[in-house]
Amino acid sequence: MKRKHFFGLLTIVLSIFVCSCSNNNKTDAAYVIKDNMIVFDEPERIEGQKSVLQLAVDPIPVVRMGFIGLGMRGADAVNRISHIEGVEFKALCDLLPERVASVQEYVIKAKNLPECAEYSGEEGWKQLCERDDIDLVYICTDWVNHVPMAVYAMQHGKHVAIEVPAATSVEECWQLVDVAEQTQRHCMMLENCCYDFFELTCLNMAQQGLFGEVIHAQGAYIHNLEPFWAHYQGNWRLEYNQKHAGDVYATHGLGPVCQVLDIHRGDKMDYLVSMSTPSINGLKIANETMGSETFANGDMTSTLIKTNKGKTILIQHNVYTPRPYDRLYQLTGTEGFANKYPYQGFTLKEENIPSDVIPDHEDLDSHGFVPNDIRDSLMVAYKHPIAKEIEEKAKQVGGHGGMDFIMDYRLIYCLQNGLPLDQDVYDAAEWSCLGELTAASIENNGMPVKFPDFTRGDWNKVKGYKHAVK
Ligand SMILES: NC(=O)c1ccc[n+]([C@@H]2O[C@H](COP(=O)([O-])OP(=O)(O)OC[C@H]3O[C@@H](n4cnc5c(N)ncnc54)[C@H](O)[C@@H]3O)[C@@H](O)[C@H]2O)c1
Repeated sequence: MKRKHFFGLLTIVLSIFVCSCSNNNKTDAAYVIKDNMIVFDEPERIEGQKSVLQLAVDPIPVVRMGFIGLGMRGADAVNRISHIEGVEFKALCDLLPERVASVQEYVIKAKNLPECAEYSGEEGWKQLCERDDIDLVYICTDWVNHVPMAVYAMQHGKHVAIEVPAATSVEECWQLVDVAEQTQRHCMMLENCCYDFFELTCLNMAQQGLFGEVIHAQGAYIHNLEPFWAHYQGNWRLEYNQKHAGDVYATHGLGPVCQVLDIHRGDKMDYLVSMSTPSINGLKIANETMGSETFANGDMTSTLIKTNKGKTILIQHNVYTPRPYDRLYQLTGTEGFANKYPYQGFTLKEENIPSDVIPDHEDLDSHGFVPNDIRDSLMVAYKHPIAKEIEEKAKQVGGHGGMDFIMDYRLIYCLQNGLPLDQDVYDAAEWSCLGELTAASIENNGMPVKFPDFTRGDWNKVKGYKHAVK
């Protein structure tokens, strides 16, 4: 074959291969299909880069902070954190200068705190990250800005906390992991649902064996966003969902159950399959507001995950149809069951509950929930030590009933005491990668998708999920 023809043929073969493996042009990421499973790239660790599993840095007695993104979520965060001792606010940044001015006026000045430096515009955040008087950069922008900002901040020596989801693609998840490992900085995703009171109590009960072995767990984000779409700055959220299939907001459902199942602390998520319904309501709202004729994100997306130990996790996403708010939180164990929505309750075996916890209870029925008074006694007896410590203040300060404050409090406490954070960069990557993994499965008729091992083989080194305490 002549050289010219050979290269022409090679180009055609390669382009067919790349097209068949690419994500329908919705992202640039490529994967291969091996043994009927979609497998994303798992780049090797670069020489000199080392794991940040259980990363602890020197204590930072006064945590100096900068905030990027002062919309609905960011402005609240500044207010919440102002209630924590041992924190100094140094800088505020938003695309829109008026949002910076408003937080400066209504939070910083109103509380008589020292005035913060102000940054705004598309790239003002870079100057904030370049300052040498900031320890922690707290990022609350739209999703596509999270990773570039976090990477730049870590490269400038800062620890980072990023709103959910931390990243929007597998490639971005690897960027967070790699840069955290290169810089040995903390990179925590702000998954607040891990700190809700019921979830914390259930985690404690699970760790004390009340449910036996937890073999199946469920979580979800089911929240009709119809009243909220117009409030996202520049319409970023609807625009993102219009372009992306899959469970684009999985971390509220996934985070708390991954902690119960010791993900990358003895078990790991091996593969998932995902399916979506057509987009009817999503398309309707995008058509009315943006004139869109297509909408990639199905109205209801359901995903099943299998772990290395053979356990299963069901995760759902629906932000489009009228339904009561539901995070579906559920644990099914060999000895018991916990359920959060719409009714908070437990099914437990009497012999597994210490008699001093509920001294004179009647026979428990393994077909129904324990009576409310017993449920309430269990909620007190198994209240998580962290909730015991900070519950009252958390409820006063608020933020989704207090869980947001507990999250911030724990982040600052761990930094002040030089402890590993409750959520590490591998959690951020494992929980955030669901967006692209589910999209790949959906686009290939529910084909299984292998989870990348972001710990690069270290998922079984730490035994059991723990909150660090001094
Ligand atoms: N954990 C939770 O319960 C929860 C709840 C709501 C939102 N969130 C997350 O918080 C984040 C923000 O959501 P929101 O509801 O506050 O949205 P929002 O639209 O109200 O706020 C986003 C802010 O980012 C700013 N921004 C955009 N580009 C910027 C840039 N280049 N530099 C600086 N600022 C920039 C915007 O001007 C805006 O003020 C999202 O990641 C979202 O998923 C989490």
